[in-house]
Amino acid sequence: MSEKRSSFTGKLGFVLAAAGSAVGLGNIWRFPYLAAKYGGGIFLLVYIILAVTFGFALMCAEIALGRKTGQSAIGAFRTLNKKYSFIGVIASVIPIIILPYYSVIGGWVTKYLAVFVSGGMSEAAADGYFETFIAKPFEPIGWFLLFIGLTALVVLLGVEKGVEKVSKVMMPVLVVLTVFVAVYVLFMPGAIDGLIYYIKPDFSKFSATTVLAAMGQLFYSMSLAMGIMITYGSYMKKDVNLEKSVRQIEIFDTGIAFFAGLMIVPAVFAFSGGDETALGKGPGLMFITLPKVFESMKGGSFIGAAFFVLVLFAALTSSISLMETVVSIVRDKIGWSRNKTCILVLVFSVLLGLPSSLGFGVWSNISLGGMTFLDMSDFFSNSILMPIVALLTSIFIGYVLKPKAIIEEIELTGPFKAKTLFTVVIKYIAPVCIVLILISSVLDALGIMKI
Ligand code: PHE
Repeated sequence: MSEKRSSFTGKLGFVLAAAGSAVGLGNIWRFPYLAAKYGGGIFLLVYIILAVTFGFALMCAEIALGRKTGQSAIGAFRTLNKKYSFIGVIASVIPIIILPYYSVIGGWVTKYLAVFVSGGMSEAAADGYFETFIAKPFEPIGWFLLFIGLTALVVLLGVEKGVEKVSKVMMPVLVVLTVFVAVYVLFMPGAIDGLIYYIKPDFSKFSATTVLAAMGQLFYSMSLAMGIMITYGSYMKKDVNLEKSVRQIEIFDTGIAFFAGLMIVPAVFAFSGGDETALGKGPGLMFITLPKVFESMKGGSFIGAAFFVLVLFAALTSSISLMETVVSIVRDKIGWSRNKTCILVLVFSVLLGLPSSLGFGVWSNISLGGMTFLDMSDFFSNSILMPIVALLTSIFIGYVLKPKAIIEEIELTGPFKAKTLFTVVIKYIAPVCIVLILISSVLDALGIMKI
């Protein structure tokens, strides 16, 4: 490709761009519903332990791989060892699966924004509103098309920088608003039980599935195990402190997820009168619970609208980075122009997104073990493919490339403080744990699915 590889300017440039990709629906929509579903405190605890070990080591490794080779996933593995470029290939499949269903959820956010702006808060807060909405055949598809169209437009026009600038302002506002709503929720009657559920680990709820779900969420939320951070690393300048940047992204990403959970999980308790089955609502949880919270607030219409604008921006920066990645992967393969490739990716993603959207209504009879098409795509990419890529990456770095190569790259700017942790996680802990967890959870899933 003739275009020169640009690099991020300034020290903060990289962190902000990577955080823009990392912080998105994964933090605000996905984390809370998983925490609610998988036992609250125990999920949170497992997640945090994984974030500071697995997440940290893998993110360091991926960014260093990218920076060392100056290439994106497939090229990076190929450059280092031809035999292992297949890891990059598997990693590249993941964003192709995620983009369509991510955009379906992005469409739901857009719909809720429109409802709040047009004064429809009380309807949105009514029981059954969300379920009725997603079961409709056409409307959710319309919002999905709007969201993915917007994403494609930004990528086509090449104005990501503009969007990123706006979101740099909006992201801190989102943090403040999330904290504000979380504090508000904690004062609602019944919320304290929810708080306890959310932060107090109940070890009897611990299972391999909890770990797998937390691990999948970690990779998803930090945009790991799918080649994206390798690509970002390839744009990173050599004089930026890699370890410190990873820490910052990690804290930012986990912090937002934590507060999003703090805002949503206790609210579920407050509104359901302690009925724990309300926690199992899955992907719809945020859309069912938050409108009720806003409705109970003074000025809730405005706060709700502001909230959904901010979430929409966070979602857009993530979907843009997803689409960018998919476009560059496809382009490397077929060699079309950027614009033509972008249209192709758009059309393909729309087709792939349709079943996810329809799966809650007319196609709801097509399900596997109670999973809709959206849940299935999500499960396949996050709970199967990502752990496999993470496993292969750690084996590759631990035994083929050797951790030293990564450590040297990180030490270009000074000593790598967590060197030992990094080496131990990559060489031993990650491979062993991932294999165990994958096996047991697949067995589990097979048992549940009765295949
Ligand atoms: N990390 C993003 C989020 O939390 C999702 C995402 C995954 C974005 C992969 C880009 C690439 O929402």
